Amino acid sequence: MPKKSVQLSGVVVAESAICSIDPDEGVLMYRGYDIAELAERSTYEETALVLLDGEVPEAEALEAFRRELTKLRELPAETEGAIDRQAGQAAPMEVVRTAVSTLREATPAQLIALLPTVVTHYHRRREGLEPVAPDASLSYSENFLAMLHGSRPNERDARAFDVAMILHAEHELNASTFAARVVAGTGADLTAAVVAAIAALSGPLHGGANEAAMALFERIGSADRAPREVREALQRGERLYGFGHPLYRAYDPRAVILKRISRELSEDAGEPNWYAITEATERTVFEEKGLYPNVDLYSGSVYRYLGVPNDLFTPLFAASRVAGWSAHAVEQQGDNKIIRPSAEYVGEPRREFR
Ligand code: CMC
Repeated sequence: MPKKSVQLSGVVVAESAICSIDPDEGVLMYRGYDIAELAERSTYEETALVLLDGEVPEAEALEAFRRELTKLRELPAETEGAIDRQAGQAAPMEVVRTAVSTLREATPAQLIALLPTVVTHYHRRREGLEPVAPDASLSYSENFLAMLHGSRPNERDARAFDVAMILHAEHELNASTFAARVVAGTGADLTAAVVAAIAALSGPLHGGANEAAMALFERIGSADRAPREVREALQRGERLYGFGHPLYRAYDPRAVILKRISRELSEDAGEPNWYAITEATERTVFEEKGLYPNVDLYSGSVYRYLGVPNDLFTPLFAASRVAGWSAHAVEQQGDNKIIRPSAEYVGEPRREFR
C-alpha cells in the first residue's frame, strides 16, 4: 500500500540492479548482498566498489581502488578556496554543495575520496583550527575521523564509523538518488548529478532527519522524561524525525545495526544518556503510534559518541551516499533516457487572459 505522505509512493520509475528492499520484512541488499553481512564483514571502500562494479572485488582490485582513493584525497586548490571563502558563514550542506560544484568531470572515485576532506576541512576552518591533511597510511574511516579530530581514532571508533558509512552508502530511489538520476538522465555529468543529490539530501525529511532527531533528544534531556515529552509532541501533531519511512513497514534494517552500535559505544563511553533517551523515545513512539525507527534515529547518537557535531551529520550522510549516487548516475547514463513524468492538471480551465 502506498504511503499517504509520500508523492510517487509505490510508483516504479526505473529498472535498477543496484539495491533491493523488502519493506515488509525489513531487508536491504546492495547488489544482492545483505547489508547485515556487509556491516559485519566489509569495509566502506569495498562496499563502495561493490556498488559501483556490481561484484565483490578480488583482493588486488580492492587494493588498487584503495590506492586510487588515497591519491585523490587532497583538495584541488579551487575547491579549497571555495571552502575557505565560505567557512565562516555558509551552512555545512551549502559548503559541501558548492565544493562539489568546483570539480570538473569528477569521477565516482574522486567524489568518494574528496568528500571527507571537504567536510573536515570546512569544519576545522570554521572552528578556527588548522585543517588536517589526509594521511595515506590510514583507511577511509580512520582518515575521516583523524581529519575531523586531529588525532588518530582507536580501532573501535573507526570500525563503528565505517559501519555507519556502509549503512548509509545506498538506498534505492530515495529523493536524493532520484534527483541524481533525473539530472544524469538529461546527459549532464556526474558532478551535476551529485550537486542535485546533495541539494535534495539537505532537507529534514531526508538527510537532515538525524540532526532533527538529535535536537529532540537534547530537548528531552533524560530518558525518564522521554515518555511525557514524546506524548505531548505527538498530541501537538509534531512530526518525530527518525520514525516512519517512505518504504519500510517494518524496523529499518539499518536501524537494527546502528542501535546495537549506539548501545556498545554508550557502554564504553560510560555515558549512556543519548542511547537511553533514544531507546525510551523509541518505546513510547511505538506504544503511541506503532511506528518503527528509521536509519536516522540511532545514527545521531552513534555520531555523537564519535564526537561529530550535530550539523555535520548530513554532510557525513552525503560523503557516504555519494557511492550510491554515483552508481545510479552511471546506470542512468547507460540507459540514456531522459526522465520526464507527467502531472495531472488540477488548475483553472481555459479562460480569457483579459
Ligand atoms: N512522526 C509522527 N507521526 C508520524 C510519523 C512521524 N515521523 N511518521 C508517520 N506518522 C504518522 C502518520 O501521520 C500517520 O498518522 P495517522 O494515521 O494518524 O494519520 C501514521 O503515522 C502512519 O503513517 P504512514 O502512512 O506509515 O507514513 P506517512 O506516509 O504518513 O509518513 C514519512 C512517511 C516518511 C513521510 C514520515 O514517516 C516522516 O515524515 N518521517 C520523519 C522524517 C524522517 O525521519 N525521514 C527520514 C527517512 S529515512 C532516510 C532515508 O532513507 O532517506
